Amino acid sequence: MRVLIIHGPNLNLLGEREPDIYGTMTLAELNDSIAVAAKALGVGVEFVQFNAEGEIITAIHDARTRYDGIVINPGAYAHYSYAIADAISSVRIPVIEAHLSNTSAREAHRRVSVTAASCAGMICGFGAASYVLALRALAQKAEK
Ligand code: DQA
Repeated sequence: MRVLIIHGPNLNLLGEREPDIYGTMTLAELNDSIAVAAKALGVGVEFVQFNAEGEIITAIHDARTRYDGIVINPGAYAHYSYAIADAISSVRIPVIEAHLSNTSAREAHRRVSVTAASCAGMICGFGAASYVLALRALAQKAEK
């Protein structure tokens, strides 16, 4: 099973960006920890990060024939990008949304995810483990 992990805007600044909310792990360290967990699950993972909405949409389109699933953290786009929601709805491979922080416990504008509605499910609030739990869910889905 091959899964594409898509990190959205501002996640390239992990480690220095609001560490009280997102922790001190850099994006490279986050990816390393996801890769270790993925190996244990027997899942192959590749990582991309884009700040631009269009690049995320293109990555979702391109993944549809190359991967068995996607884990996406759309960043703030989760809260208002109907274009990314449509891209997720447009592909047949399962997509799971992951957020580092518990978006339900933050400002009102973060409590809604318009992209999660197009996903198989959404996991938030567990830091790096949100991505790993999403991967586990994809692996379980593939077994069925
Ligand atoms: C985030 C939550 C979003 O609300 C925020 O805009 C981010 C990070 C998270 O992983 O917790 O950029 O997606």
